[in-house]
Amino acid sequence: MQGKNRRGVVAIDGPAGAGKSTVARQVSRDLGYIYIDTGAMYRALTLKALRLGTDLYDHGALTELAHHTNIKISYYDHTQMIIMDGEDVSTEIRSPEVSRNVSLVALVPGVRLEMVKLQRELAREGGVVMDGRDIGSYVLPDADCKIFLTASTAERARRRARDLEAAGYTINLAELEQEIIRRDEIDSTREMAPLIKADNAILIDTSDMGFEEVVNEIKKCILQST
Ligand code: DC
Repeated sequence: MQGKNRRGVVAIDGPAGAGKSTVARQVSRDLGYIYIDTGAMYRALTLKALRLGTDLYDHGALTELAHHTNIKISYYDHTQMIIMDGEDVSTEIRSPEVSRNVSLVALVPGVRLEMVKLQRELAREGGVVMDGRDIGSYVLPDADCKIFLTASTAERARRRARDLEAAGYTINLAELEQEIIRRDEIDSTREMAPLIKADNAILIDTSDMGFEEVVNEIKKCILQST
């Protein structure tokens, strides 16, 4: 589709804690687009695997689990809710236990294929801001606007700590920073669709940038390309 005011597709990727979700949520609100947090899908499946005691190194079992899990995204007052097998798990998927284990689940090709199917389906109509690790490079290679957000590890750990503390968790900042490094390492080195900046993505380092500035930069990109 060409022409003014086409409802485009924005892909936002980057490592843990780079500020993707906060920025993506604001951009989607301002543009009247829907926001899709793809990490939440991998988190929901991880939660189910942890509850069932599934061996997180058993790729066959995790693939089977993905095939038999119903994951849906719905919205309440612009906020994404993630529904797993009919249950709203939006809060529980943010627990430190899920965060510690999600990379192991997300590296399984069979799991990814199942999630990517759903993600492409959700983006089909346009008017979407999707964030994740492989959105610009693999899930939506034809996205109108691709952004790769990053920030220093220390800053990313501080941001994650702030979010977790606000949710009532007690945090050890040094441990959190180590966990983020470990998670980025697994996400960037996995075989299928690793965390990577797409060639034509705009790199934005948010370490020293204000929130509004980042949001405006992304809005400028999408308004120029649609
Ligand atoms: O963005 P997040 O922290 O909620 O993501 C959770 C995990 O899911 C992250 O460690 C990597 C994985 N993930 C992925 O592999 N691909 C995506 N598109 C989104 C997330």
